[in-house]
Amino acid sequence: MKRTMKFVYGFLSLFFFVSCLHEKELKPICSGDIWPDDKGVHINAHGGGILYHKGTFYWYGENKSDSTSNAMVGIMCYSSKNLTDWKNEGAVLPVVSDESCEIVQGCIMERPKVIYNSKTKKFVMWFHLELKGQGYAAARSAVAVSDLPTGPFKYLRSLRPNAKKFPYDMTERQRNILDTLDSQHYQKWWTPEWNEAVKNGLFVKRDMQNGQMARDMQLFVDDDGKAYHIYSSEENLTLHIAELNDEYTGHTGKYVRVAPAGHNEAPAIFKADSTYWMISSGCTGWDPNEARMFSATNIFGPWTQHRNPCVGPKSEITFGGQSTFVLKLPGKKNAFIFMADIWKPKHPSDARYIWLPIQFKNGNPVVEWMDSWTLDFFDKRTAEK
Ligand code: GAL
Repeated sequence: MKRTMKFVYGFLSLFFFVSCLHEKELKPICSGDIWPDDKGVHINAHGGGILYHKGTFYWYGENKSDSTSNAMVGIMCYSSKNLTDWKNEGAVLPVVSDESCEIVQGCIMERPKVIYNSKTKKFVMWFHLELKGQGYAAARSAVAVSDLPTGPFKYLRSLRPNAKKFPYDMTERQRNILDTLDSQHYQKWWTPEWNEAVKNGLFVKRDMQNGQMARDMQLFVDDDGKAYHIYSSEENLTLHIAELNDEYTGHTGKYVRVAPAGHNEAPAIFKADSTYWMISSGCTGWDPNEARMFSATNIFGPWTQHRNPCVGPKSEITFGGQSTFVLKLPGKKNAFIFMADIWKPKHPSDARYIWLPIQFKNGNPVVEWMDSWTLDFFDKRTAEK
């Protein structure tokens, strides 16, 4: 009897020890796979971004339905303590049924990002908004605020940024070239003359009165608390980096243009030491293309273009994905996760996520495909080569 008890006790201890070990084991991150939430349903937060606030990560993204990419539900939020187990917090900015409202069901709400304003104590969401029934013509950005990270977010307004403001980095000469005021002169795109005119502000000037187009977008809060809205403008030809006001709910009018006529979308920005890095994509709709990368030592530029940060098989198409965000891991030095979406235009809700660690080689960020990896990757890093 005594022996049997000992055996049972021994077995139970081993069982608990093994299950504890298991509990502590980090779950792998498997890019491209189904990623179930706390209810076992594939996470529906596409074109998303992550906010870290008081020990919890909040993942905001587009809810996509099975048959359309238009907004049928609204902006979703998921929360997590460990970045692998996600609790569905629901639609934190739901669409509405009132047809006179800009976020009526059937509009397009893309690439939401949320930042926290420590002065106003508000969570501020910006996203790309296209008005219902107008395709991608409106090219607006919209803003909503909340007292809690899990919402509900209150919709404030949409706008085209920086009406009546010249870009901060536009030279006197460019401001005064009258020719670039008239886009009628340049009906044919991609000619050398058109290219030159775009660089000199053809579309900035066209949109001067009502504000600049603002589609694919990102938010970034710098160490000094200043926040920036980064968006594809000028017919998706040029990225703008625009300073937000103290409340983060509007623009100050100070903005610069990055890679004029470079056709960049999907900007994702991060700061390592004192260098700003931006990864973006080309413009091929839902089809993947080769990622681009830029760096600057001042957020207002000048920005220098580098080689594609992705390496290895399928790196020429960003492993089948399109950038959406770079997450800085709290409490670790220069630990960043590159996040991208593998779009499924025929079955939008089945779009998959790519999460890969950013490595630094010769000082430059590099993204390498890994079928599966765990977050302790960052603790196992060896000194930079
Ligand atoms: C992509 C863009 C997506 C979405 C899509 C529509 O280029 O990054 O956010 O707008 O086009 O075709």
